[in-house]
Amino acid sequence: MTDRNRRLVLAERPSGMVDDSTARLEEEPVPEPGPGQALVRVQYLSIDPTIRTWMNDVEGYLPPIGIGEVVRSGGIGEVVASNSDRYAVGDLVFGMTGWQDYTVADEGAGSMQVIPPGIPPLVALSVFGVTGMTAYFGMLDVGQVREGDAVVVSGAAGATGSIAGQIAKVKGASPVVGIAGNDEKCAWIVDELGFDAAINYRTDDVGRRLHELCPAGIDLYFDNVGGEILDTCLGQLALRGRVAVCGAISTYNEDGTTKGITNYRNLIVKRARMEGFLLLDYLDRFPEAQLEMAVWVAEGKIKHAEHVVEGLEHAPDALNLLFTGGNTGKVIVKV
Ligand SMILES: NC(=O)c1ccc[n+]([C@@H]2O[C@H](COP(=O)([O-])OP(=O)(O)OC[C@H]3O[C@@H](n4cnc5c(N)ncnc54)[C@H](OP(=O)(O)O)[C@@H]3O)[C@@H](O)[C@H]2O)c1
Repeated sequence: MTDRNRRLVLAERPSGMVDDSTARLEEEPVPEPGPGQALVRVQYLSIDPTIRTWMNDVEGYLPPIGIGEVVRSGGIGEVVASNSDRYAVGDLVFGMTGWQDYTVADEGAGSMQVIPPGIPPLVALSVFGVTGMTAYFGMLDVGQVREGDAVVVSGAAGATGSIAGQIAKVKGASPVVGIAGNDEKCAWIVDELGFDAAINYRTDDVGRRLHELCPAGIDLYFDNVGGEILDTCLGQLALRGRVAVCGAISTYNEDGTTKGITNYRNLIVKRARMEGFLLLDYLDRFPEAQLEMAVWVAEGKIKHAEHVVEGLEHAPDALNLLFTGGNTGKVIVKV
């Protein structure tokens, strides 16, 4: 245990990818937990694309990170001192740790949750964490996937997309087509995860391949990327098709000049539905989802991958991996 708290604070708002000047490494004394509080030593950080959106000076579903504030981030840590009946020393806890060595958990609503014993931290951050839960509720609740549906998932080798496509397979969708950014990722989702087919959006003609693979149209498009791929999928929806709008990572580094979507009129022609969602609205349903996911994982129906980057100081590089496509599966920083 170090006796200083290293923390990465937002030094300036990035334009495009984050770089050396975006976050500044500072040190401060380790915080003292007050009454009803616990001191948590952060072990792992969940690296999520939304962190990049919080760095912009734009009001979203959460306020922007202020200049000089610790970069906001989910993470897992171990309780190392406690003045609280809720947290015992040795507990693993999940919550908004921020990019730092230590954080303080209190007993208020929305503070840190104790992770049940036996769940390894990497798994708690991936398939049972934010991205696994997003895939679950996005595919089942918003997407309403059904047996026989032609399903397309973008960002298909990423943390959310890889799980979303496998859930569609569990529910009998066919074909399940994944869109990803290189041939290795395409081979992984088909050979290892059981997707029926994959499209490399950098080298394939996405529109033509989708016509071949889903000749009767797309029943459900699970969108992680937005932009041109969304537009192409909108143009190929089946009658009463659905689009579950999970994310738009192709636009998060842009400056507001995002090109508009042209194929939205197909929603009218196909009497289709397009719906965005936020995982925050499903927090109270996590236990049921995690239970069902645990069964699928135990049965080998859902596989998951974690891409671990070592060192708190490399958190900005880890965030950039999401935008360069340098990751397969869930990006996690081992602090
Ligand atoms: N709605 C919610 O509550 C919620 C919750 C969590 C996550 N999300 C969203 O879910 C999406 C996936 O998040 P994640 O954490 O699972 O990340 P991830 O998929 O593990 O990583 C992001 C992936 O996006 C792909 N990508 C990056 N830029 C792209 C571009 N311009 N065009 C096409 N693909 C691109 C990259 O793969 P390639 O190599 O294939 O390009 C990269 O690996 C994000 O949009 C995120 O904001 C939403």
